[in-house]
Amino acid sequence: MKILAVETSCDETAAAVVEDGRKIISNAVASSSALHEKTGGIIPERAAREQVSFIIPVIEEAMSQVSGFFEIDYLAVTTGPGLIGSLLVGVETVKTMGLVLNKKIIPVNHVIAHLYANFLEKNNKIDYPALGLVISGGHSELFLMKNEREIKWLSGTLDDASGEAFDKTARILGLGFPGGPAIASKAAEFSSASNRPTIRLPRPLIGEDSLNFSFSGLKTAVLREVENLKKINKFSEKSVIELAFEIQEAITDVLVNKTLKAAKKFEVKSILIGGGVAANQRLTEKFRTKMENSPGRLFIPPPLLCTDNAAYIGSYAYFHQHPQDWRNIEAYPDLDVEIGSAI
Ligand code: KG4
Ligand code: ZN
Repeated sequence: MKILAVETSCDETAAAVVEDGRKIISNAVASSSALHEKTGGIIPERAAREQVSFIIPVIEEAMSQVSGFFEIDYLAVTTGPGLIGSLLVGVETVKTMGLVLNKKIIPVNHVIAHLYANFLEKNNKIDYPALGLVISGGHSELFLMKNEREIKWLSGTLDDASGEAFDKTARILGLGFPGGPAIASKAAEFSSASNRPTIRLPRPLIGEDSLNFSFSGLKTAVLREVENLKKINKFSEKSVIELAFEIQEAITDVLVNKTLKAAKKFEVKSILIGGGVAANQRLTEKFRTKMENSPGRLFIPPPLLCTDNAAYIGSYAYFHQHPQDWRNIEAYPDLDVEIGSAI
């Protein structure tokens, strides 16, 4: 079965054709990050306006790898959560296609769909129960997966998401947008073998039993540190490098600690990670080291499948086949991720 999937929930405009939920036939992504780099963040109206110009060429590019729409069984589209203007670009385009092509549409929850990037790797054999960690610009959520279809939300962030913590602290340090890759490349300039950072940042909630995350305290701590250094005229390139290193250490320490705590509690056989922050190499390194002697297996998609794209939207749609008439498809900016009951 082939699904043409479309994703426009944030600043990417993406379309993909996915076969049987596991095979990528095509995966086209247009990003407006160059525009947001200039403004230091996403301006929703500008993102949506750019997406209007990208959407048709991106769908055409995805469709260029198949012979025509007759090959497509279903359409799929992200209906939420996300920015309303951005979501509407994808949703209205796909609804029109549903009407014109007389095809059913599968609505997709963008956040949960991130986990499905792990189904797109040929040799991944995932045993259940599995734990899912979604870490993106707006979300840090843990899920328990009984199988490919049955998923329960476990916990989330009490304030900022992990990607947001990277983005906001990068902004405080005067680094670019998106903040994750900017912090990661600055942190790489710090050699931890010969140096220990003199600045120590908090690891919020790390010692507590709760599986919730909290990252806003980290942002405040960075702001305070920068202000203090500036006051005594000691804020330099060296302090930016050291702070970037310590920010990355603090965020990844918390993510690894909480995830492994949940994995132990629910005795899972696999851990699946998804979302833009999963592209962080230091995070992968820490997970691998900590899980060396554990029986559970770790799955992290390659970086290009971690950040927003439509391939995992197509995979999710295959495993959650509730096709709808175009009239029943709507954008839900606040679409709930807390599916099932928290355990
Ligand atoms: O999943 P995603 O592409 O979009 C959302 O659904 O939000 O995630 C974007 C987030 C941004 O906060 C960005 O800073 C972060 O992912 N990110 C990273 C890296 N690449 C992207 N964070 C840490 N390290 C990276 N290499
Ligand atoms: Zn995303």
